[in-house]
Amino acid sequence: MTEIRDAAQASTLVSTLDLLRTRRSVPPMLLDAPGPTAEELDGWLAIAARVPDHGKLAPWRFLVIEGEARERVGAIIERTFLADFPEADDKRRAQERQRLTHAPVVVGVVSRAGPHVKIPEWEQVLSAGAVCMNLVVAANAAGYATAWLTEWFAYDRRVLDALGLDPAERIAGFIHIGRAKEVPSDRPRPDLAQIVTRL
Ligand SMILES: Cc1cc2nc3c(=O)[nH]c(=O)nc-3n(C[C@H](O)[C@H](O)[C@H](O)COP(=O)(O)O)c2cc1C
Repeated sequence: MTEIRDAAQASTLVSTLDLLRTRRSVPPMLLDAPGPTAEELDGWLAIAARVPDHGKLAPWRFLVIEGEARERVGAIIERTFLADFPEADDKRRAQERQRLTHAPVVVGVVSRAGPHVKIPEWEQVLSAGAVCMNLVVAANAAGYATAWLTEWFAYDRRVLDALGLDPAERIAGFIHIGRAKEVPSDRPRPDLAQIVTRL
């Protein structure tokens, strides 16, 4: 029994490492339906919330944007964009309106980091980054592809207000999730010699 479990764990370990070694982002334009089932998505959100979290503050939360909600949020983005650039042509408007409509589901990860008597805010922010990455890894492990993006509207107070974020809340990322129509070639990765210091 122990041997079987060890073998199963070993093969899981290899595939996890392979996934981490080879995963790369797929831009929203190349993401397609079908999206995850509600059960699949809930499973990934539970995994995403299972991250190191100093003080057990859960200083993050999720916005699930799927189906028709993608167009509703797209309309908010377009409206905000037009307030600043009223001369924008139809093509540019459509680009803003369609920001979240390519992938079947987009999850906004909201950081709720703030001042705390014991836990530095920086550590709370880092935890939100870990949530994003766990979600990315979970979706990719299930055979989907992802893009972790922010773009200008993640920093625009008018858009954040419309999405229901409190003044102290921030977007850690919008995770676009779907089936890859194609996977772009990889980008250059950092040279370990440049980033590793052995003390
Ligand atoms: C917090 C965060 C925000 C990002 N926002 C954007 C963005 O707005 N636009 C963009 O083109 N890439 C953005 N990126 C980078 C993309 O995720 C990029 O495609 C990715 O770094 C590619 O690397 P990968 O193939 O290892 O996933 C962001 C990355 C992070 C971590």
